Amino acid sequence: MFEYAQRIKILPPYLFAQIDQKKREKLQQGVDLIDLGVGDPDIPTPQPIVEAMKRAVEKPEHHRYPSYEGMFSFRKAVADWYKRRFGVDLDPHTEIVTLIGSKEGIAHFPLAFVNPGDVVLCPDPAYPVYKIGTIFAGGEPYILPLKEENGFLPDFKSVPKDILKRAKIIWVNYPNNPTSAVAEESFYKELIDWARENNIIVASDLAYSEIYFGNKRPMSILQIEGAKEVAIEFHSLSKTFNMTGWRLGMAVGNKDLIAGLGKVKTNVDSGQFQAIQEAGITALSLPEEEVQKIRDIYRERRNAMIKALEDVGLEVYKSDATFYLWVKVPKGYTSAEFVSLLLDKCGIVCTPGNGFGQYGEGYFRTSLTVPTARLLEAVERIRGLKL
Ligand code: MLT
Repeated sequence: MFEYAQRIKILPPYLFAQIDQKKREKLQQGVDLIDLGVGDPDIPTPQPIVEAMKRAVEKPEHHRYPSYEGMFSFRKAVADWYKRRFGVDLDPHTEIVTLIGSKEGIAHFPLAFVNPGDVVLCPDPAYPVYKIGTIFAGGEPYILPLKEENGFLPDFKSVPKDILKRAKIIWVNYPNNPTSAVAEESFYKELIDWARENNIIVASDLAYSEIYFGNKRPMSILQIEGAKEVAIEFHSLSKTFNMTGWRLGMAVGNKDLIAGLGKVKTNVDSGQFQAIQEAGITALSLPEEEVQKIRDIYRERRNAMIKALEDVGLEVYKSDATFYLWVKVPKGYTSAEFVSLLLDKCGIVCTPGNGFGQYGEGYFRTSLTVPTARLLEAVERIRGLKL
């Protein structure tokens, strides 16, 4: 038998792969499953993007290897979108690289900057890939707890000096998965000042920037003065344009950080299919009303779901972004116990808070990626538990 390498041995099974397995078992038993697990939009990709893809796939020039850094026209579309949306100027030649989905970039980025034994400051609870990418690079994740009393923001100033000396990267992700929290400008300002003082790379994951319901639109860290000296931002077309299956994202920001990630990528992949990038240009050029329509659907679902969950006595963290709700498990249950109960007794798939890290214990996450009627049906099933 071949033995796994240590870096793989120490990893738990990937959170959503494990949940998929349980889901399959229930479906095989014929359970009418309501899937509030992974954040995978149920709304189809807007038609203009699909049409653009159909045209692009016919073009023989797209059938050959793509460029490593991504088509210039796609990177230019990213630069135009960032300018329009955030007022941020980016040079498509040096400050943008195309990704095969932002997960790929997030997992690969530490390989470019982390030596074995270096520390990466990772929030907890969080998207698991920040920690996984760190481990792949031989780095040590240092946990920054995200606590409700701090608005689920990390207290980066509390990092002890000896850790700080070894720290290379800090990960932040707002609007936040899984808690749905948002970060204000003052948080980002302090973070950038601190990172510049301590020579730490700030890696921001902005995948949920367009899923917001308040009047204030979430910001890019690159809007902060001086951010380009230390920051790289990962973004994705997945959540904004319902394109999770297409695998298209981008990293933008400091040119040396982009070049480092680009160097890793030239050695491990050969770029994203150009037809997908061409469809991505159409996505990034869609009128704002198209995205607003998607946002309105989530808003309606979110409001209905919060009301229904509160009505059965569950406590929901109320933020105004992302298509997730972060909910406290009822007294007497652990996250894993309650999520198992939901699956076994109600046929509902949710994600246990501790799957995102130890500080997620005591919570579970529901996605709003099913129609309102199904969300309400889920809550009726929960009501039947008589908690
Ligand atoms: C999630 O459910 O946390 C995300 O969909 C995972 C991902 O974006 O890869």
